[in-house]
Amino acid sequence: MGNITKEQIEITKVNTSKIESIDFNNLAFGQVFSDHMLTCDYIDGKWQMPKIEPFASISLMPSAKIFHYGQSIFEGMKAYKDSNDDVFLFRPMENVKRLNISAKRLAIPEIPEDYFMEGLKALLDLEKDWIPTKEGSSLYLRPFVFSTGEGFHASPSNAYKFILACAPSGPYFSGKVKVLIEETYSRSANGGVGYAKAGGNYAGQFYPTQLAKDKGYQQVIWTDDTSHEYIEEAGAMNVFVRINDTLLTSPISERILDGVTRKSILDIAKAEGINTEVRKVKVSELVEAAKNGSLKEIFGAGTAAVISPISGFGFRGEDYEIPEIDNAYATKLKNRIVKIQTNKTDDPFGWRVKV
Ligand code: COI
Repeated sequence: MGNITKEQIEITKVNTSKIESIDFNNLAFGQVFSDHMLTCDYIDGKWQMPKIEPFASISLMPSAKIFHYGQSIFEGMKAYKDSNDDVFLFRPMENVKRLNISAKRLAIPEIPEDYFMEGLKALLDLEKDWIPTKEGSSLYLRPFVFSTGEGFHASPSNAYKFILACAPSGPYFSGKVKVLIEETYSRSANGGVGYAKAGGNYAGQFYPTQLAKDKGYQQVIWTDDTSHEYIEEAGAMNVFVRINDTLLTSPISERILDGVTRKSILDIAKAEGINTEVRKVKVSELVEAAKNGSLKEIFGAGTAAVISPISGFGFRGEDYEIPEIDNAYATKLKNRIVKIQTNKTDDPFGWRVKV
């Protein structure tokens, strides 16, 4: 692409920064937001020049289509700062490309890649001081697109807004997570939008997850929608299972998100000499492995939590615990990916991008 450069982006700054009011040592996940955001409007049949403006409320008519038909997609990314004050992103083009894969599925016009990337660079130049450096923290970046055009007709909008907002954040989960294997509700179905990062995919998870919480679990493991025999994702994350010394994860499909952390973990595991298998994993296999002691680990993988270890699972009224082990793959893989992300180790994969 390369049609615009970050210098061309018009910036309107806040009068007074709120950064002094933020406790960077006690950050929750995604609860406080930086001073500025990147915005870009799709009107008159094209994406207009991106701009940077103060992070503030936006005004929409009640007839805006986003409220009625949920045409909305998002991404999750993180920015890191090292001890030299250099700023890094992790495989950002993967997010840009996936946003446009989601856009296509939701009948949203694709955003020019250079608008996204040059806009993000300009925003990070401005918000550099908002990048936390404490271990486990980062500047979580939330690019999202939604329909702003008006009308109750159930058809795509003629106007959209892209926003990229920044939230200095601490860890997504604290501690291990107990999950329920879900056999009634489905996250996605063949031919649906499961592979897209559509807002509605997450909204649809809240009710089944609440039911699981009421039973004492923190998250659910989603199974395939037709047979419910195979595990597919864990909450809002991809899922990995270690049986003996083999690391397994489901192949991506039209129902499963092509997670950036997922594919990075697979590459790191291979480089570390861990035996990996990308194949469908049966719930019955998990139960059997839990019973005979060969189930060593289950963990979720996603941008927000990076790797989230699972302490046990519930299935058909039985609870299966996964005993703590030394040298867990979850710890080893998380350490390596976070060190690559934060410029604390070399990056033979070429994933880290200096801003
Ligand atoms: C991510 O891991 O970034 C996700 O997409 C989870 C998000 C819902 C917080």
